[in-house]
Amino acid sequence: MATIIDGKAVSAFLKDGIKKECLELKEKGVSVCLAVIIVGDDPASRTYVNNKKKACEAVGIISREYALPADTSMAELLALIDELNNDREVNGILCQLPLPKGLSDELVIKAISPKKDVDAFSAENVGHIMIGDHTFLPPSAYPQYCFCGKECVVVGRSNIVGKPMAMLLLQQNGTVTICHSKTKNLKEVTRRADILVAAVGKPYFVTADMVKDGAVVIDVGMDRNSEGKLCGDVDFAEVSKKASYITPVPGGVGPMTIATLLKNTVTAAKQQNGLI
Ligand code: GUN
Repeated sequence: MATIIDGKAVSAFLKDGIKKECLELKEKGVSVCLAVIIVGDDPASRTYVNNKKKACEAVGIISREYALPADTSMAELLALIDELNNDREVNGILCQLPLPKGLSDELVIKAISPKKDVDAFSAENVGHIMIGDHTFLPPSAYPQYCFCGKECVVVGRSNIVGKPMAMLLLQQNGTVTICHSKTKNLKEVTRRADILVAAVGKPYFVTADMVKDGAVVIDVGMDRNSEGKLCGDVDFAEVSKKASYITPVPGGVGPMTIATLLKNTVTAAKQQNGLI
């Protein structure tokens, strides 16, 4: 039976440090502020945004919410982002994705200033992650672990999760394979993994027969099952019998994503105030 990696506990530890950093910044006259944009009324997005705002409050980051109706035009959304890019009180900008139909996630990612892109979604910030000189961590960043020489297999090649995750594993000396919907003999590849990262966005996609005995399984999925319940990309009940370590959903990577967002917002504030 696998040991469950408690993302909540790790993120609580990280948040303690972030809280201290915010206090130190306050003493230097710097209030850290994150602008959070939500468009439309998707319940899952609303939950994520509420969790992020609550986490900001807990560490002493001011969160400013901009809740726009689903029929907001692209021009209106871009005008708001432009305003926030130029607002000196705003250190980070987060626009919750995906946007409602008719609005472009890509245009929003392009519009947010890379200096305030605390999700690290922009081409510039992803590029920094690629070459290993990033200031902003990607949202799926995880605690340090010895990946040296290990077989790391990432299932999923999204710009937001799969690709940056693969780059981080590579920088930590893992031997990295990225699989996707066109990969032949997927099971054969995933069964090689010492570290298996699931980032496909399909509930229970990774089944026990795809996992090597003793593998470390990181589930980045935030899916809904047929009953509408939050679940991951991994069939946790079965895979946890084979893995050595596994992250649950919820309570695994999700809280780490929030901790990373907070850390990036503090980093942005420091950078914008000439403190790093
Ligand atoms: N939608 C799902 N995850 C994320 C995230 O980390 N950031 C943003 N902006 N939108 C998301």
